[in-house]
Amino acid sequence: MSETVQNRIFSGVQPTGNLHLGNYLGAIRNFVRLQDDYECIFCVVDMHAITVWQDPKELIHNTREVAASYIAAGVDPKKHIIFNQSRVSAHAELGWIFNCVARIGWLNRMTQFKDKAGKNREKVSTGLYVYPNLMAADILAYKATHVPVGEDQKQHLELTRDIAMKFNTDFGREVFPITEPLIMGAATRVMSLRDGSKKMSKSDPSDLSRITMLDDADTVAKKIRKAVSDPNPLPGAGILGDNGEIDSEFRQERPEALNLLNIYAALNDETLGDVLGRYEGKGFADFKKDLTDLAVEKLGPIGAEMKRLMVDDRSYLDGILKDGGERAAALAKPVLDEVYDAVGFLR
Ligand code: TYM
Repeated sequence: MSETVQNRIFSGVQPTGNLHLGNYLGAIRNFVRLQDDYECIFCVVDMHAITVWQDPKELIHNTREVAASYIAAGVDPKKHIIFNQSRVSAHAELGWIFNCVARIGWLNRMTQFKDKAGKNREKVSTGLYVYPNLMAADILAYKATHVPVGEDQKQHLELTRDIAMKFNTDFGREVFPITEPLIMGAATRVMSLRDGSKKMSKSDPSDLSRITMLDDADTVAKKIRKAVSDPNPLPGAGILGDNGEIDSEFRQERPEALNLLNIYAALNDETLGDVLGRYEGKGFADFKKDLTDLAVEKLGPIGAEMKRLMVDDRSYLDGILKDGGERAAALAKPVLDEVYDAVGFLR
């Protein structure tokens, strides 16, 4: 039997290039904050990435880039595990079993699949369709109890819980924990800088829609300067209700303003109310200047360290991923043994 753990985190980021502010504020920064209280496994999910076409050379580069972002942001790779998914066969093995546990109706409800497949539904890979089953396998191969992610992954984590419950019920054993999502901070859903109704994403064709973790100061300044805003002055804390909820009219009519305010609050580790209090009545020109300085101050050193790791310290980076892969495989092995035994696979 594998051991039961109380406080184990698993999370992952796809190595599909263009790592952006949303990935940092919604996920990576929280990894760093949680590492003192949890035993953590941070994965570069290269098997998820190939559910849409990836150039093989770029995939290798992007895998190192995500690993470098974890380390540069402050994850301790000695204390915790950093590795790329394809090194540990347990993900694919458990993923297959979950393909046989999850129901088609469950997958049909996944909004991310609908968004990514769009009108092209018949032509996307079958991997894209069963993507959430592999994600459940990532988490449950380690019996992870908590998963820090941005808001867009919430539905996938609900599916992970459904899969865990169905497996436990079908096989009459409490093999898997019911995992808790950790969706934290003022920027759990960072929106595009060009369109406040779309989330900031790696695949948006417009580079101006996102600030990446590797952007230099001039690029950050340009993107924030060009970010869509509106001619009105910034509102005050009056747009917040008693419980901190945001006025629905403001949310609807000025989504770009709200997004920039949320980004500021998250980067400066403040509440939205604090930021509103300071900028009430001011115009976007001043606010955007301050936001640029703040973004450069917070992201600049991380981007520089990422570049250093990727260029000057590649063997160190590769060593971390190899060592992490070995440690992860050792943790997953007893879980897979337990699963195979429950399923009735003769060994
Ligand atoms: P991915 O690679 O799309 O994104 C990585 C992390 O960044 C968060 N994120 C955002 N947060 C706030 N605002 C945004 N605009 C934004 N865009 C992305 C995501 O929520 C995520 O936390 N399916 C996952 C990868 C994955 C995974 C896992 C995560 C595979 N297996 C197991 C957790 C546990 C994904 O595509 O993330």
